[in-house]
Amino acid sequence: MSGPDLLRLGVLGSGYGSNFAAICRAIDQGVLPARITAVLSDQPGAGILELGRTIGARTECIVPGIARGRLDPATEEKIVAILREEKVELVILAGFMRIIGPGLLAAYPRRIINVHPSLLPNHRGAQAAAQALAAGDQVTGCTVHYVDQGVDTGEIIAQQEVEVRPDDTTETLQARIQVAEHALLPSVIATFARP
Ligand code: GAR
Repeated sequence: MSGPDLLRLGVLGSGYGSNFAAICRAIDQGVLPARITAVLSDQPGAGILELGRTIGARTECIVPGIARGRLDPATEEKIVAILREEKVELVILAGFMRIIGPGLLAAYPRRIINVHPSLLPNHRGAQAAAQALAAGDQVTGCTVHYVDQGVDTGEIIAQQEVEVRPDDTTETLQARIQVAEHALLPSVIATFARP
């Protein structure tokens, strides 16, 4: 498939970037007709920025300003400008630990999706695997959903269940949830791509 037919993706992340790597693998394997053109992080040392450089995407650390856990309007304006310059059509939050505000949401209506390590609406926010263990869940999972102004509250697009084992720790459970995320997220992104 040629360049203009590829869905142009912008990925925002705060951490290691294993979901980002899964998207790259799906593209390399030819099952996701997309191209990642922008990778943005609020954390200068985030692995996702390093991975972004290796695929030749535009990578930027955006300075989040003073609003803790959020993006201030000026930062959102900067993000929107970068995404537009790179002609991004779909924005992926892959471990981005800040709440998206009205500026970015208005620029990409129903074109911002997030992956979350629980079966929403259960266990919103941070440490979802630990929350599932503390609640005694026997089944948890992951969700891809549209982003709105809340914390993990947007319309659900797809979910995948993951069994909780009796000997699970937060780390083993989170690792198994991530395996499920790495299949679910690229498959959802593919539904936004042109046929
Ligand atoms: C993922 O498990 C994602 O679901 C989670 O952060 C991790 C990022 O890992 N996101 C949230 O908890 C959002 N509420 P990665 O950087 O290796 O893709």
